[in-house]
Amino acid sequence: MSENASGQIDTVMTEDRLFPPSEEFASKSAIGSMEAYQQLYDEVKADPTAYWDKVAREELHWFKPYDTVLEWNNPLAKWFIGGRTNVSYNCLDAHLDTERRNKAAIIFEGEPGDIRTLTYQQLHREVCKFANVLKGLGVKQGDVVSIYMPMTPELLIAMQACARIGAVHSVIFAGFSAEAIADRNNDASAKIQLTADAAWRRGKQLPLKEVVDEALAKSPTVEKCIVLRRVGNEVSMQEGRDCWWHDLMDEASADCPAEPLDSEAPLFILYTSGSTGKPKGIKHTTAGYILWAKKTFEWVFDYRDEDIFWCTADCGWITGHSYVAYGPLAAGATVMMYEGAPNWPADDRFWDIIERHKVNILYTAPTAIRAFIKWGDGHVDKHDLSSLRLLGTVGEGINPEAWMWYHEKIGGERCPIVDTWWQTETGGIMMSPLPGAIPTKPGSCTKPLPGVIPSIVDEELQEVPQNHGGMLCVAQPWPGMLRGIWGDDERFKEQYWTKVPGKYLTGDNARTDDDGYYWIMGRIDDVINVSGHRLSTIEVESALVSHDTVAEAAAVGRPDEIKGQAIAVFVTIKGDAQPTDELRKELRLHVRKEIGALAQPDDIRFTGALPKTRSGKIMRRLLRDIASGTEQAGQDTSTLEDYSVLAKLRDDEE
Ligand code: WTA
Repeated sequence: MSENASGQIDTVMTEDRLFPPSEEFASKSAIGSMEAYQQLYDEVKADPTAYWDKVAREELHWFKPYDTVLEWNNPLAKWFIGGRTNVSYNCLDAHLDTERRNKAAIIFEGEPGDIRTLTYQQLHREVCKFANVLKGLGVKQGDVVSIYMPMTPELLIAMQACARIGAVHSVIFAGFSAEAIADRNNDASAKIQLTADAAWRRGKQLPLKEVVDEALAKSPTVEKCIVLRRVGNEVSMQEGRDCWWHDLMDEASADCPAEPLDSEAPLFILYTSGSTGKPKGIKHTTAGYILWAKKTFEWVFDYRDEDIFWCTADCGWITGHSYVAYGPLAAGATVMMYEGAPNWPADDRFWDIIERHKVNILYTAPTAIRAFIKWGDGHVDKHDLSSLRLLGTVGEGINPEAWMWYHEKIGGERCPIVDTWWQTETGGIMMSPLPGAIPTKPGSCTKPLPGVIPSIVDEELQEVPQNHGGMLCVAQPWPGMLRGIWGDDERFKEQYWTKVPGKYLTGDNARTDDDGYYWIMGRIDDVINVSGHRLSTIEVESALVSHDTVAEAAAVGRPDEIKGQAIAVFVTIKGDAQPTDELRKELRLHVRKEIGALAQPDDIRFTGALPKTRSGKIMRRLLRDIASGTEQAGQDTSTLEDYSVLAKLRDDEE
């Protein structure tokens, strides 16, 4: 273990398994060796403006060329100043004069099993029509459109239609409450609401329109509501306010040229929860965002024209924005889109989809992978997954044992895994292996993408040496970076640009290893301080998950008179294991053996489930309060996926 200095974080994890891409994979990749990656990385680093100028000219369509590549008045960046372009044009029209026009843009499968394929030409037509629907309702450039819809093609069509006319979309995941929708609508002054009668979820109907009715009662700026008929249940339609999607589409013209928009015209707002306080509306703009989404998609997924790419994220999250609705379409890819739950009608739905559609690239979240492990290998073994050639993860650190399972069971030991680190704020992937070039290590997001200059600093703002953890920052602007928090410039400055002047503060801790590989160590707020040693949550959790019986674990600190903080862990165990004192003892010893006595948990609590956000991240902040018995009434739990989990944890405590 390393010495602690100026608030650095100690690392206790050692992982030396290394998985280079196969020769076959590398030989077909656009970037096929570590040297090729390094050369590109160095080229962009040496002269970012020249590089992005070249790429923006080659890869984006411009109605009017820009005058200046970048203006950087920290913390405000402007990219491709003076240019006019359109995101929807780059995703759709750009392919219509090429052989891609009759290629599948979207292959959609609904939860009940309905399948629909839209070619680029067909998708273009739908987007144009819906853009005209919006115009017909008086939506103008800069107006905010609030979207609360199921994961169907219409959700993507709505996003693209907004982009086409310069309206700003705010997609709210269709699992949030009426209160959460109203908060977001009011913060953004949304003018139009889009929703559906209901959504399918595990065979049940989620009554979206009912939730929206309640939200709109508290959203005075919303004038109209467009309702998609998805499920066919009875809904109440308010005269003068509510209209059916299909009625409006029937009347709409398919002629809607893309609006030439300023490079910095806002494209969307996406609300993300802060660790405290009200959600913040992260703002992204036009040219830089789409360029970043497209390039990172091509680099990280090594996309080839014949591939079917499946990102399982809902368009309610940034991952669904950048790697379902925008990046892949800009690159001319075929996107698999699935509406429902991974365990409906059975726990093998994902593998069934992959087998039937012959999906080639799967991009999903560690929380899903840990659930698959818990559900058992039998569901996987039933299916032929040989179409897969590349796997990816996003959203949280992946514990090495879960990585190994993904590699062996899903990837058949032949598919590289891209562990992609990024944030809503970064607009696209920031660190990830390039699968044909960079050998992977389980649990590491490996290397920064070209154009990303990471910097890890301690509390004194000094760069930390290798093998020391510190605050992860980004030292230079990149095209996809956030352009602000909607309506709150102060919070934007304060949150991301103040603590470490001149650099973007990510809020995560990280370290590099001897090979210069990056390891994300969790959120800065989640660090556990034991006897003056600052430990990262992910390392303790990964040690626990490497035990046979453990499906999932969350580690938090609670106050301790002697050590400063003690380590409390919440553990879910696999189906056949028993939550006994014996097992507690064994787990303690296991962690001690894996990473050392210092990291040995003080409290081990077994639980059926962990509290998670709706996008699957463990909410350690809530667990911290439970562990220390200091739950605060004012805590923001609006992003919690399942309230009963929290209630259950509280009960267990008593
Ligand atoms: C975490 C999701 C470790 C991290 C795209 C980040 C990760 C936050 C990884 C952003 C990863 C995301 N390894 N941690 N590969 N990917 N995170 O805004 O804490 O939903 O700051 O964006 O998720 O979450 P967000």
